[in-house]
Amino acid sequence: MSDQTPKLQLLSPVTVGGQTLRNRVVLAPLTRARCTSTTDPFDPVNATPNDLLVEHYAQRASGGLLVTEATAVSEMGWGWRNAPKICTPEQVAGWKRVTEAVHEKGGVIYIQLWHGGRQTHSSFHPSTGKIFAPSAIACPNAAVKTIDGESVKAEVPTEMTLQDIQDTIQEFVTAARLSKEAGFDGVELHSGNGYLIDTFFQSSTNKRTDEYGGSIDNRCRFLKDVVEAIIADGSYPSERIAFHISPQGNYGDMGSNDNFDQFVRIAKIMNPLGLAYLNMQDGLGFGFHEKDKIVTCADIRKVWDGPIIGNIGLTRDVAEGMIRSGAVDMCSWGRLYMSNPDLVERFTNNWPLAPEAPYQDWWRTDGAEGYNTYPTYTPE
Ligand SMILES: Cc1cc2nc3c(=O)[nH]c(=O)nc-3n(C[C@H](O)[C@H](O)[C@H](O)COP(=O)(O)O)c2cc1C
Repeated sequence: MSDQTPKLQLLSPVTVGGQTLRNRVVLAPLTRARCTSTTDPFDPVNATPNDLLVEHYAQRASGGLLVTEATAVSEMGWGWRNAPKICTPEQVAGWKRVTEAVHEKGGVIYIQLWHGGRQTHSSFHPSTGKIFAPSAIACPNAAVKTIDGESVKAEVPTEMTLQDIQDTIQEFVTAARLSKEAGFDGVELHSGNGYLIDTFFQSSTNKRTDEYGGSIDNRCRFLKDVVEAIIADGSYPSERIAFHISPQGNYGDMGSNDNFDQFVRIAKIMNPLGLAYLNMQDGLGFGFHEKDKIVTCADIRKVWDGPIIGNIGLTRDVAEGMIRSGAVDMCSWGRLYMSNPDLVERFTNNWPLAPEAPYQDWWRTDGAEGYNTYPTYTPE
């Protein structure tokens, strides 16, 4: 650290799930769709982590915590071409190489477990030909693509039966078990951005009349059941299981007029489980539905005793202020971490940041370009 740099709490260690993270800078989960096969880059069923991913995460290993891109727990949960799954022995082996590369550099890495729900397309699910959601409500403005990459109108999902719900909970349990095998330090359940768990939470997408819908508490039940089933299975203890929410987000046609009460209640219901952390997109710079008042990390802090990760559009100093205020314990970066693999070193030394990665780099399919080609900073 240079003499001029103040002692930043952002760069101080923190304990999460019994592990010491060397700083509070977190790599936000980022779908980058780079699981193209080296032998057949256009193989549409390829969803296995490869050399590109190994290098990408290793480049960012100085972050206190890395959260992987959303990773599908099953065929029904998968809906993004070249995005990874964790289902087969090959996929576990691919992820193992990623975790080993990060651990070798002293990093800590959680996998984000994902069920795409109504934002998937039936072409990804040949065994059923369906897409799943708590209720049969489509998302007309969401960007849904087929397995061939064609943009199409979102399909009307099939309302899950109680058996479908139990089967899907088991898919998360199996995926957590495989994540453990792959060497992940913990799992983060993707409960935001309009994917399956989020559609259970929100009143605009959950019109069920059974124990998984209706009241705010019933709409929290699916997440709670998934977490409790993973704990009961024994792959990870509660302190290594986290979840991720996006209460203000409009991505995937989301937003409900009771979101403030809903999301504060979720935190309150999950609090006694003693989870690893709650990862929260509390900023507005990634779309705001304007249907209800904003849920801030400070609101969640009142009902949540564990670590909180704040996110969206942060600068180093705003993040530092959030940590000092006590609202959050860590902060995550998405777009800036894409283009600054040495984000921690730049924050530490007050070095300039590279601009955010341009949109055209987000989901390229031509190898390392725009993915692993962002340089580290070299002082003059
Ligand atoms: C290309 C891209 C992919 C993303 N993929 C995911 C994802 O897989 N899971 C998730 O929870 N959020 C995802 N997000 C949201 C980011 O984690 C983060 O919340 C967002 O980029 C805002 O943070 P930032 O302002 O630091 O970029 C994605 C965002 C971008 C730009």
